[in-house]
Amino acid sequence: MTAPILEARGLSIAFGGLRAVDNVSFTVARNRITTIIGPNGAGKSTLFNLISGALRPRGGQVLIEGVDQTGQPPYRMQAAGLARSFQITNLFFELSVGENLRLASQILEPWSLALRPVSASHAALARVDELLQRFSLKDKASFRVSALSHGEQRRLEVALALACKPKVLLLDEPTQGMSHGDTQDTAALIKSLANDVTVLLIEHDIGLVMSLSDHVIVMHQGQKLAEGAPADIRNNPAVQAAYLGHP
Ligand SMILES: Nc1ncnc2c1ncn2[C@@H]1O[C@H](COP(=O)(O)OP(=O)(O)OP(=O)(O)O)[C@@H](O)[C@H]1O
Ligand SMILES: [Mg+2]
Repeated sequence: MTAPILEARGLSIAFGGLRAVDNVSFTVARNRITTIIGPNGAGKSTLFNLISGALRPRGGQVLIEGVDQTGQPPYRMQAAGLARSFQITNLFFELSVGENLRLASQILEPWSLALRPVSASHAALARVDELLQRFSLKDKASFRVSALSHGEQRRLEVALALACKPKVLLLDEPTQGMSHGDTQDTAALIKSLANDVTVLLIEHDIGLVMSLSDHVIVMHQGQKLAEGAPADIRNNPAVQAAYLGHP
């Protein structure tokens, strides 16, 4: 049996007396969409910080394809196949859309070429072109990021995370603040990504969670409250009480 693409084992971290993530374990299946839900402050983003290496866990392990990567810095996690987008935007606002994508794509360049101008790398330029196309940003390539709509900025953020060709993509509320139309477009986009990348998603829009996810993990007060297929989660009384509200 092959190892799961991503596994969390007993992950824990505390801030002062607050157990922000408390002994959380789960596995993520390859080429599936796994979604983490839970109330504000449940520990979802902190869990992403532990998995992506932004924070070192106080306890527990992170395994990528069966290899223990616990405590590795983000660039090592990235080398192991992990990429993430942020709940708070992480773009270079004064650079163009194309320049942002070129910087991100250059990460794949061998060290010997790293100091050459990006314009000299055909591989990086081809990657940029592919991402512009896929994310419907081609006509905005020369626009400064600050001139994009909120929805376009969030879309660019997902494109940036994909530029390094990750195996696992962590998306923290990619539809936050989006209009209904943009949210639907982004959902379709995420669905299409799952053909060649494993997606671990944090999302608040419960309709979207139910339609998009193969597997749902519910966080509550730092702990994993439940996990299962979307329909099982919807019908779970403990989840309804803690998060979904009315049965
Ligand atoms: N660096 C930090 N220092 C201190 N406390 C923190 C830190 N990061 C998060 N926390 C606290 O940990 C708890 C979990 O926060 P986290 O951001 O993980 O929640 P979340 O589930 O992502 O919430 P939201 O849905 O609002 O994004 C919160 O009480 C938060 O205030
Ligand atoms: Mg969060």
